[in-house]
Amino acid sequence: MDQQKAKFICSKCGAETDADVDTERYKKRLCRNCFGKKKDTRVNQLNDLTGAEWARHSKSIESYPDTRTQNQKEHGACFPKALARHQIEIYTQEGDVVLDPFVGVGTTMQAAHELGRKSLGIELNPRFAQMCRDEIAEKGIEGELFEDDAENMLAHIARDSVDFILTSPPYANLLKTINGNFAYKWRELSEINPIKNPAPYSLDGRDIGNMEYGEGIAAISGVMKKCHAVQKAGTYAVWVVKDFRDLKRGVPYIDFHGDIIRCAEEAGYTLWDIRIYDQTNFRPLVCLGYPSRNFYLNIGHSYLLVFKKMR
Ligand SMILES: C[S@@+](CC[C@H](N)C(=O)[O-])C[C@H]1O[C@@H](n2cnc3c(N)ncnc32)[C@H](O)[C@@H]1O
Repeated sequence: MDQQKAKFICSKCGAETDADVDTERYKKRLCRNCFGKKKDTRVNQLNDLTGAEWARHSKSIESYPDTRTQNQKEHGACFPKALARHQIEIYTQEGDVVLDPFVGVGTTMQAAHELGRKSLGIELNPRFAQMCRDEIAEKGIEGELFEDDAENMLAHIARDSVDFILTSPPYANLLKTINGNFAYKWRELSEINPIKNPAPYSLDGRDIGNMEYGEGIAAISGVMKKCHAVQKAGTYAVWVVKDFRDLKRGVPYIDFHGDIIRCAEEAGYTLWDIRIYDQTNFRPLVCLGYPSRNFYLNIGHSYLLVFKKMR
């Protein structure tokens, strides 16, 4: 036999509703919305997000507005501050310490400051380091910038002291070897835009941006081990990387993100997540390979590689 339904007014919100008479909800005279809407008293151990924000931050593909400050434009290889804020909101709580071992002009430190986190940065290039220091002074950022090779991290930062790492590494000698104009001649045919390559960072031999690919990966591997040492157990690191091509040397695809994952695993991290950073709307489409038999994709995304130091 069907259960008996009764209409009533919700004791909490006053809405008209109904329920089966022998249910808990009927006894409490609560509508469907108010029933079960108890305050979540569980302690959020990772960040300061509500449950709804936690869900909204968990998309595996994300895009960020391509806004750039004058300093970021001068640097030429920065990620958007919105990207940095997003990661910091997810993987830290207010007061935590965020480190960027390749801090550039300080995007990570600025985002951390805006969110009430402390920050540490390492930058080898004196010009970028100075730009970062100026930002720290001007904005009153609670943090420290070390002008040094990231390899020397342990001389500046204590082991097991950092709550989160966000960084994007230099791309070995990509900036020098990549030929941004290799498809330029087809521009008139396809109404596409030219690529403007960022300038090389410096002439310093310790600058990973000046190294051959294999040497650069070895240097990043060394830095990754130091990163693992300075992080607290149970914390995360996000590395923002993009794959690329070296067509001048006949290499159609360089699996940079795969190499970074290998470096991280060798350093003791666990690969935890991969988020696609969709840049399609901010990248000019170029016609690659036409009309030969070489069809190439326009690489319009980066990877946000999420690693965790388990213990
Ligand atoms: C991809 S950029 C990072 C930009 C940064 N995310 C920002 O938004 O400003 C990489 C940076 O690493 C720096 N770098 C290269 N080799 C380094 C090393 N051995 N130690 C520390 N920094 C280094 C470069 O000068 C460059 O500024």
